[in-house]
Amino acid sequence: MNEPRATILVTGGAGYIGSHTALALKERGYRPIVLDNLSRGHREIVEDKLAIPFIEGDTRDHALLDALFARERIAAVMHFAAFMEVGESVAHPLRFYDNNVYGTVTLLEAMAKAGVDKFVFSSTAATYGEPRTTPIPEDHPQAPINPYGRSKLMVEQLLADCDRAHGLRSVIFRYFNAAGAHPSVAIGEHHEPETHLLPLILHAALGLRPAIRVFGADYPTPDGTCIRDYIHVCDLADAHVLGLEYLLAGRESAAFNLGSGRGFSVKEVIEAARRVSGRDIPVETAPRRAGDPPVLVGSSDKARRVLGWKPRYEDLDTIVGHAWAWHAR
Ligand SMILES: NC(=O)c1ccc[n+]([C@@H]2O[C@H](COP(=O)([O-])OP(=O)(O)OC[C@H]3O[C@@H](n4cnc5c(N)ncnc54)[C@H](O)[C@@H]3O)[C@@H](O)[C@H]2O)c1
Repeated sequence: MNEPRATILVTGGAGYIGSHTALALKERGYRPIVLDNLSRGHREIVEDKLAIPFIEGDTRDHALLDALFARERIAAVMHFAAFMEVGESVAHPLRFYDNNVYGTVTLLEAMAKAGVDKFVFSSTAATYGEPRTTPIPEDHPQAPINPYGRSKLMVEQLLADCDRAHGLRSVIFRYFNAAGAHPSVAIGEHHEPETHLLPLILHAALGLRPAIRVFGADYPTPDGTCIRDYIHVCDLADAHVLGLEYLLAGRESAAFNLGSGRGFSVKEVIEAARRVSGRDIPVETAPRRAGDPPVLVGSSDKARRVLGWKPRYEDLDTIVGHAWAWHAR
């Protein structure tokens, strides 16, 4: 048997995007180790479904991290662990700064002590705030409008400082809306509480909730509902492996958007879910939510050009179809 390639620490790997990325790493011969405190994740995904080494622990636990870095020869860290629900961040900002910012500081301290200098970070389109141009390029001003987005921008800024001070090399990925599930149906999207559009639509299709609530049908868009950029979670995972390999090749720190470059309205996603599932999906219209821009679409040309990233699942019905197969399993 071949020796596995580098060992990669995946924080938050019991969550949605981290678990898909841990699997992509394993499939490409790397040795992922997942660290997750299970505040929002699912242990059985990592241990039973993926058979990947799992450590239950917190990114803010200095002693645990020091022992982990002393025990394992870790080549790079992929940092997914964070809280991400915007409404929760508005109600409990300190919870977000503690987990998302302080949790990253602790992790970076442990890495610096152990001499680990490669970091792949899950940032977000929420760091841009209200878009001034569409599709949004990476050099668009970053002016987040909620504590969640600000917590992620703070980490981006501290990564730049650590690059200058200690030579930490990072790849920052600013995701648009992750969606879909692994085509094997082994893993999929399971947030608690669920706030993401596609799983909520599919819960309505399965009768797990009475209807899908659409926030605002009077936006200045062709059908009046918000337009977002959906990217398949396996395409995100592929980009992470390419980002890792970019850093392992000794390249400099960089930030990349990850989206499809195309927008779909809430109504279009509901229509796709009706087509794919063959189910009736009741809709309830509610007032707009504060801070929801009408259109949020990113340009991912830089990731395609610099990393050679090619999304495999760009078609909306395919993304919705994979999510439906997982939810309906
Ligand atoms: N899902 C999206 O569309 C989206 C969009 C933009 C950015 N992101 C970012 O991507 C990352 C992953 O998102 P996701 O959708 O997979 O979320 P998720 O909630 O499914 O996964 C996050 C995981 O991190 C773990 N965790 C949280 N705090 C921790 C800590 N202090 N120590 C150890 N583990 C901890 C949770 O238990 C969970 O398993 C997050 O950083 C999020 O901000 C996600």
